[in-house]
Amino acid sequence: MVITSAPGKVILFGEHAVVYGEPALAGAIDRRVYVHATKIPSGVKIVSDKSKDFRYAKKAVELAFDYTGRKCGLDIKVDSELPPASGLGSSAAVSVATILAVSKLLGAKLSRAEIAKLGHRAELEVQGAASPTDTAISTFGGVLFIQPKKQKYQRINATLPMVVGYTGIERSTKMLVQNVKSLKEKFPEIVNPIIKDIGKITREAKRRLENNEDVGELMNINHGLLDALGVSTEKLNELVYAARNAGAKGAKLTGAGGGGCMIAYAPKNAEKVARAIEKCGCAALKTGISGEGVRVAFKYNN
Ligand code: MEV
Repeated sequence: MVITSAPGKVILFGEHAVVYGEPALAGAIDRRVYVHATKIPSGVKIVSDKSKDFRYAKKAVELAFDYTGRKCGLDIKVDSELPPASGLGSSAAVSVATILAVSKLLGAKLSRAEIAKLGHRAELEVQGAASPTDTAISTFGGVLFIQPKKQKYQRINATLPMVVGYTGIERSTKMLVQNVKSLKEKFPEIVNPIIKDIGKITREAKRRLENNEDVGELMNINHGLLDALGVSTEKLNELVYAARNAGAKGAKLTGAGGGGCMIAYAPKNAEKVARAIEKCGCAALKTGISGEGVRVAFKYNN
């Protein structure tokens, strides 16, 4: 049997715009998904308490079989520390952790680049549209500057103390990506420059992070533009303003929006910011953005 794990993620800058080829900055978090996989005589059995995770695990198994040209009977159990449909990348973590687990049981050696590629394909096939952001972070860990057109992932040396606020509202990434697409088609002259501006913010944030400069204001501008694209909600805005009022240097929604999570950059007053989020009736989690990518947690050969 083998147990693999992969981290969830937060997008620091560039969500939605990354679907149209702009760069994104994202980081792995200290919460992970665990996949327990055991060989059985025949068939594929997948157990997960979250139905969404099940679909990604199933697709990941199919792709691993296809890619390696090998097959076996499998018993898979998915355990997750990440709330599903929250914008913290649980589907990407399930996909890459499953691909690594299955490849290990099949005796196939896949590189991280291959795992990231297959994980992205699993997301694309289940969701219809997805950038490589979430699966890249879950595979490689750390903080990455992602250039989707070139499929290039550049590691950034940054340790960012973040507070994550979770609205508790589940939402569909697919639907939110579709809504932005419709808005873009309806008002191309207005929406295309917003997408380009988000790209400019992301590039400037990368430059500042590399020079140890503050990125709080850029987070605030990025949030305003995401709100303009229609992906924020009253609750997300409430958390963003509560965090800023409690002293966060910057705060924005993270991931697809429509509910899910927001992040606050609060190097000095994380406690106060976390309490302000909790006062709005939401869960706050303090996390460092520097997690390790997909890995084998346990392997037993029998
Ligand atoms: C979802 O975590 C981020 C989006 O940009 C979609 C994607 O990149 O696939 C909204």
